[in-house]
This record gives sequence, C-alpha cells and structure tokens, in this order.
Amino acid sequence: MNLLILGRGKTGSLVAEVAAERKHHVETAGAKENAACAALSPEKLHNIDTVIDFTGPHCVVANIEACVHAGKKMVVGTTGWHAELDRIRHLVEQHKTGFVYAANFSIGINLFYDAGRAAATALRHGYSGQIFERHHAHKKDAPSGTALAMQRIVREVSGQTEGPEITSFREGEVVGLHEIVLESANDRIYLCHDAKSRRGFAEGAVLAAEWLAGKTGFYEFKDIWRELQQ
Ligand SMILES: NC(=O)c1ccc[n+]([C@@H]2O[C@H](COP(=O)([O-])OP(=O)(O)OC[C@H]3O[C@@H](n4cnc5c(N)ncnc54)[C@H](OP(=O)(O)O)[C@@H]3O)[C@@H](O)[C@H]2O)c1
Repeated sequence: MNLLILGRGKTGSLVAEVAAERKHHVETAGAKENAACAALSPEKLHNIDTVIDFTGPHCVVANIEACVHAGKKMVVGTTGWHAELDRIRHLVEQHKTGFVYAANFSIGINLFYDAGRAAATALRHGYSGQIFERHHAHKKDAPSGTALAMQRIVREVSGQTEGPEITSFREGEVVGLHEIVLESANDRIYLCHDAKSRRGFAEGAVLAAEWLAGKTGFYEFKDIWRELQQ
C-alpha cells in the first residue's frame, strides 16, 4: 500500500519503520509540511491509499476532515478528540470512506480491556474501583484516552454512570502504564498493563491500515481485535 504517515514524533516515526518493514511504500509529513493541512489536498493525496495520524489534539480533527473530504481512508492513533466521535462518524459515513481509530493500538491493551471488562462485575458486588495512568512528561492530554476507554468499559459493565475516578501521573519517559484497582472490605484486585516500548502501538496501527484495505465504514480497533480472536 501507499501510506502517508502524519507526525514524525515518537510514535509516527515507529509506524513508518514498521510499515516499511512490511514492504509498504511510506511517505511522511510533519508539522511544517502539513501546516493548515497543506499535505492533505486531493492532489497531494492522489496516490495515497491510507493516511495514518499520530500528531496531536490541536490538528487531528482538521487532518481527519481534510482526508475524508479527499475521499481517503484513515487510521487515527492521536488521542484527545473523542468528544467529536459522533460528528466524525457521520462525516466518514457520508463520504463512504474507511476509518479506524483507537486510543491504543496494542494487542496487550486490548487484552487488558477484556480483563477489565471481566473484573468490573466486582462493582456490582460491593467493590469500588480506581484507575491510575502514568505517562511521560511530554504527553499533552490527561487523562489518557486509554484510561477513559477503560472507564467507559467499567461503567458499561457496572451500570454506574459515574466513576471510577482516574488519577493521572506525568513523569520522566514512561511509555504508558495503566492500572485498575478494585477494592472491597475483604480484598483488593489489581490489573496492570505496562507498555515496554511504542512498537506495539505502531504494529497495531499498520495492521489496522492493512485490515482497512478494500473496506469502507467507521471502526474502532476493538472490531479488528474481535476478528483476530475468532
Ligand atoms: N493510539 C495509540 O496506540 C497511541 C499510542 C501512542 C501515542 N498515541 C497518541 O498519538 C499522538 C502522538 O503521540 P507521540 O507520542 O508520537 O507524540 P510526539 O512525539 O509529540 O509526536 C507528534 C508529532 O506530530 C507532529 N505534528 C504536529 N502537528 C502536525 C501537523 N499539523 N501535521 C503533521 N504532523 C504534525 C509533530 O511534528 P514536529 O516534530 O514537526 O513538530 C510531532 O513530531 C498523541 O495524541 C498520543 O496520545 C496514541
């Protein structure tokens, strides 16, 4: 495939590396070339099959709008824009393009979500829950999209409309650590996912781009994960 990777930062550069290893043709654009979505005109995207976005919350929505208007498929790893999900879903469906997003593209986190979903039944049996997340000091959004996704899962399972509380820590170069702690008067359950590198995110994003080939529609990475488990 011909892939355009937006963002040459910590994750985008690894996505480009993984995609090249998997024999895709890779172009990249950083903040300078893509100011005001300059790299995303229909002419510039003419030969591109899919755009992968690992940029930042300040520009991701404009990037999505430009790609969808140009009729291009997208894989979006950037977080901090999910309040606009419904509007973007509508836009993607209207333009009949393909779109996959996730707050976390690693297989390990998707297993962690499944474990959290199973454990969250505890909240129906007198347990209280808390979520902790720890990331590097440069991360722009808090709480992390992954912690918010886990919070949604716990609410769905427990039927509660509030909580569990999320506590965010920003320090050093931590790639991403998420914990869910469920506590009763009798015991405490800890579930923890600790990312050792960003490669798991990059592999998942390239897998999502490959999966999207030949498809249209609006998907979350968990839809791909479900298929992988069958
Ligand atoms: N879903 C997942 O699995 C996952 C995993 C990791 C991270 N993330 C998310 O992905 C995003 C990026 O994370 P990161 O750690 O890679 O951040 P990062 O190292 O700060 O990289 C972001 C890059 O985006 C570039 N950029 C800024 N504005 C741009 C624009 N308008 N067009 C193109 N590129 C632009 C910056 O380029 P310059 O250097 O040229 O300024 C920078 O290199 C964050 O939202 C993070 O939360 C998601």
